[in-house]
Amino acid sequence: MGKIILTGDRPTGRLHIGHYVGSLRRRVELQNSGLYDKIFVMIADAQALTDNADNPEKVRQNILEVALDYMSAGLDPQKTTIFIQSQVSELTELTFFYNNLVTVQRLQRNPTVKQEIKMRGFSEDDSDNKAGTPVGFFCYPISQAADITAFKATTVPVGEDQEPMIEQTREIVRKFNSVYGPTLVEPEILLPDNAACLRLPGTDGKAKMSKSLGNCIYLSDSAEEVWAKVKGMFTDPGHLQVSDPGKVEGNTVFTYLDAFCRDEHFEKFGDCFKGRKASFEFHSLDEVKAQYRAGGLGDMMIKNFLNAVLNDTLEPIRTRRKELEQDIPYVYEVLRKGSETARAAAAETLTDVKRSMRINYFDPGVLDELIKEQSEKYGSQL
Ligand code: TRP
Repeated sequence: MGKIILTGDRPTGRLHIGHYVGSLRRRVELQNSGLYDKIFVMIADAQALTDNADNPEKVRQNILEVALDYMSAGLDPQKTTIFIQSQVSELTELTFFYNNLVTVQRLQRNPTVKQEIKMRGFSEDDSDNKAGTPVGFFCYPISQAADITAFKATTVPVGEDQEPMIEQTREIVRKFNSVYGPTLVEPEILLPDNAACLRLPGTDGKAKMSKSLGNCIYLSDSAEEVWAKVKGMFTDPGHLQVSDPGKVEGNTVFTYLDAFCRDEHFEKFGDCFKGRKASFEFHSLDEVKAQYRAGGLGDMMIKNFLNAVLNDTLEPIRTRRKELEQDIPYVYEVLRKGSETARAAAAETLTDVKRSMRINYFDPGVLDELIKEQSEKYGSQL
């Protein structure tokens, strides 16, 4: 049996470098590795609507933003099926059947959903015009299990916050297969291999890069915007004088370097460490860290270097995005075709599911059998 990837993002905003190091970069590598038979990347508009029911326009606008970000970051429609979730109606049917295999209590224990409910301020009691939790939002882990299983995905490359969804999916698969017979494929999560990439903090040092906190560097930011954000970044608040020893742990500039810096960058951007007062020659990030800890290495130098390193990754993405922005019909055609391909794949799984659940009454052969069975029961003539 082949190896199949499914993953995706909610279209609620442009993608940022947290998405990039947390999953997008890996997806492109996996796509180009040749190790996977099929790769599906989904723009999860239906999931985005579970907490944006009153703002469909936001979701509609961001579908194209995310598609542009995907393709400019290197997802290639020749190798990867990029599609829109809502256009694959089979997913909602699967969700409806999976709903029966999950308890309310189990959903209430999902730590990611719990945290999201808190962040969105959904109230426990929805009296007094306070907004309670939408049922669709509360249940989205089940719909996510449908997304994954519909494509018989073996591998789901995602960020750490998605771990509870994959676990929920695995439980649904086991339950389904034990009740109805072997049908669905149990997926594996594929997490980023570098700790800094697991959860890239915001430019303000807060735990997560998030649009609502205004601490993101977007893939589509201009070089000027990136530099302004890097300049404003948090470092070590105790590092007051250049000569003071500095802390690397919890220092956001170093966390970003951990996520983006490669040894070749020292050759390419070594000039960042040549100053009027002090100059350094580094060959690895470990050497930079050691010098920073010892003192004498200023924040401006490391920010200059980080800026160069970030732009090394972002510039080609920006250029491709500009090109794609000039050919919007092409981008929509990719999404339309991708959605068609995805739909055909999901339909096959739905057929398997209905057969296993024995709710395929009108499939060829099944109807004859049903008529025979019921006629015998009633002793009626055939
Ligand atoms: N929950 C994911 C996010 O918030 C999006 C998503 C929906 C997804 N369905 C999925 C991710 C299936 C992986 C697999 O970004």
